[in-house]
Amino acid sequence: GVGVAITGCGSAAPNPTVTNDQLSQVVETSDEWIASRTGIRQRHLSEPSGTLVDLASQAAKSAIDMAGLEPDQIDLILLATSTPDDLFGSACQVQAAIGASQAVAFDLTAACSGFVFGLVTAAQYIRTGAYRNVLLIGADVLSRWVDWSDRRTCVLFGDGAGAVVIQANQSDRLLGFELRSDGTQNRCLNLAYSGESKQLSEDCEIGQGNFQPITMNGQEVYRFAVKRVPEVIEKALFRANVKTDSVDWLLLHQANQRILDAVANRLKIPSEKVISNLAKYGNTSAASIPLALDEAVRDGLVKPGDTIAASGFGAGLTWGAAIFQW
Ligand code: ACO
Repeated sequence: GVGVAITGCGSAAPNPTVTNDQLSQVVETSDEWIASRTGIRQRHLSEPSGTLVDLASQAAKSAIDMAGLEPDQIDLILLATSTPDDLFGSACQVQAAIGASQAVAFDLTAACSGFVFGLVTAAQYIRTGAYRNVLLIGADVLSRWVDWSDRRTCVLFGDGAGAVVIQANQSDRLLGFELRSDGTQNRCLNLAYSGESKQLSEDCEIGQGNFQPITMNGQEVYRFAVKRVPEVIEKALFRANVKTDSVDWLLLHQANQRILDAVANRLKIPSEKVISNLAKYGNTSAASIPLALDEAVRDGLVKPGDTIAASGFGAGLTWGAAIFQW
């Protein structure tokens, strides 16, 4: 059968950074509170004119470059995002922006699990022989949807994009995966449509409105993550026939340093093997895994042949893990 391999990565973040001290002028908080509870020290936030498509396209171009491809060799673009510029989907705008004229493009929404769900989706298209070169982008601008008067959420998030190119390959480097969803716990974390009724005519009423800012039950999300993420990684490792000792890097969705530490602890993976860039970016949702991967690759931490256990988790609820070789 056809195998899959990640052959390139890239990332982008908007320029302006906001430190915890700066945030303490917006809401009643402190660098000490935020850093000690989350590990976050600053985040990059998009300017009003900044678009998701720009960020995603920038990350995509460097990934395609590293893979040594031309944009018109891309067969499929998957844009994992919860914050498109256009609710009809933003993947086609990325396709146009990077000149991937031959690619079919669509959005994929699985919140902070979007990258891992997208990686598995890409692998299915390649393994069936349908497509050979897939561009997967995880990108979010949650700053647009955060309640900037709510200190329980606004300190956590940042904006960014990460991308990978996944190609058909003789040897299969996606060794195993496991994906999960639980809609019964949906209320923990939402960015929900909120409608008001509008009377169109005497016998027709419809909903009209906007979206509510992000709402989150932090403690429930924390409990969910530290229980479910180690489980799903163990399941994926089992399917991959990889022993925990052989994992070179634990690459988790960058939600919170305490979640990273607790998951590594439960799996008995030493902290030197845990990739973390929370301090600089905060939680960038679907972007966080490919953004952290790209930095680790370009810094020379992750080397060819390294085994990576990646796991995304978040709203839905959704969670999943993928074991792959770089
Ligand atoms: N600054 C100062 N004080 C704060 C802040 C803040 N930014 N936010 C909350 N507080 C206060 C609260 O009001 C509360 O005060 P009170 O006791 O007087 O009521 C106190 O700090 C403790 O609040 P808790 O919510 O209990 O704080 P907790 O220790 O649970 O930490 C946190 C909150 C960091 C959100 C934690 O629950 C957590 O890590 N949850 C995981 C959620 C997460 O990572 N979500 C990311 C999005 S989801 C995802 O990506 C998967």
